[in-house]
Amino acid sequence: AASGIWGGRFDAGPSAVMQAINASVDVDRRLFEQDIAGSLAHCAMLTACGVISRADGEAIERGLTEIRQDIRAGRFEWKAALEDVHMNIEAVLRERIGAPAGRLHTARSRNDQVATDFRLWLREALDSAAEALRAYQRVLVARAEAHADWVMPGFTHLQTAQPVSLGHHLLCWVEAAERDRGRLMDARARLNESPLGAAALAGTAFPIDREMTARALGFDRPMANSLDAVSSRDFALEALSAAAITAVNLSRFAEEIVLWTSRRFGFASLSDAYSTGSSIMPQKRNPDAAELVRAKPGRIAGALQGLIIVMKGLPLAYSKDMQEDKALVFTAFDDLILAITAMTGMAGDLTFHREALEAAAGEAYSDATDLADWLVRELGLPFRDAHHIAGAAVKAAEAEGRALKDLALSRYQEIEPRIDARVFEVLSARASMESRISFGGTAPVRVREQAGAWKQRLAQ
Ligand code: ARG
Repeated sequence: AASGIWGGRFDAGPSAVMQAINASVDVDRRLFEQDIAGSLAHCAMLTACGVISRADGEAIERGLTEIRQDIRAGRFEWKAALEDVHMNIEAVLRERIGAPAGRLHTARSRNDQVATDFRLWLREALDSAAEALRAYQRVLVARAEAHADWVMPGFTHLQTAQPVSLGHHLLCWVEAAERDRGRLMDARARLNESPLGAAALAGTAFPIDREMTARALGFDRPMANSLDAVSSRDFALEALSAAAITAVNLSRFAEEIVLWTSRRFGFASLSDAYSTGSSIMPQKRNPDAAELVRAKPGRIAGALQGLIIVMKGLPLAYSKDMQEDKALVFTAFDDLILAITAMTGMAGDLTFHREALEAAAGEAYSDATDLADWLVRELGLPFRDAHHIAGAAVKAAEAEGRALKDLALSRYQEIEPRIDARVFEVLSARASMESRISFGGTAPVRVREQAGAWKQRLAQ
């Protein structure tokens, strides 16, 4: 025999597989706080507008508040047969308060209900991710300031390029995190409109007050089109895009941690707290957390791709396809917040190795550009000619197995007779780093300025 919420026009219950494919409660029970908050706002509004009686409104409110306590305390039995979080809660409300429970769904549908819950959930997740990024930035800025005048090799193509300040390198990730945070907050601002009261798709004939529920739930305004309110999921796509981009930025720093802590680089170490061992090789220390952060874009960009494909081509208004949105968004934001937190931990945990960094910064002719710049500045050569001469000096030094600073002045003068001994002043990694004082450049004075500016900004 048919039962349940739409039993009226049904003769039989669902098959086992129908129930298995249809039920979402294992996933969407995570929305219970938002669902009850939405129901409380809806109920208060129905009462205020005279759609339900004050006594019924109070009974509903009391019942929902108790149910919320029970769910929080783990005293609630979720039933797959009741499909989703909304119907589980409504069914228990009916058990507890009887007939008035049936009035809660007046002027509402699960379509506007779930869209409301989901927006509320995502708003909080975006805030948590943004807050986690702030903590990450604070750690990076402190570490950048402490290492403003530590010199390390900067790379292009992963080939030694020019010396940079370690603090400068770390501040690069602070800048990226700020843009990521901005994208998450942009997504938040755009999603903060209330679908509640759109009902199934067309609005309702009851005299409801959508402004009132929007305000009660912290939304900026009610959504202006009832079809849009129940069928749009671009807010979730936008949040996932911002999450995927954030994860990509985190993964790039994670990859640097993997490289830097390898024996071949030897630039930094992670403590035991952020390392794992091997089940066979007793000597191993592996940067598993960094590798897992490196992997997260696979999952998060995958969730974005997954939901984009679910949404593509769906006609208005609600279709059940859209139920698949929540699992993707939940795991993506769980992953994202965990990744940010792990990166914050590692950024604070890393011990940098000054000598190794400085030695590597001086290798592989990283001062060749400084030689070319000197020829421009002191001899007035065009940069292209200077580049050629500096290249010839690198070739000569390489043939002798020496650094540029150890090549004899006579050898320089064979290449360009006007070169004099002052050239040696610019031939060191440290001098190179310290000379790059342009705005945004790597000189420690600029790095300290930037770190100071960030400290102020992050203190607010
Ligand atoms: N569990 C559903 C979802 O997450 C709730 C909305 C159901 N609406 C409906 N018309 N069947 O999408």
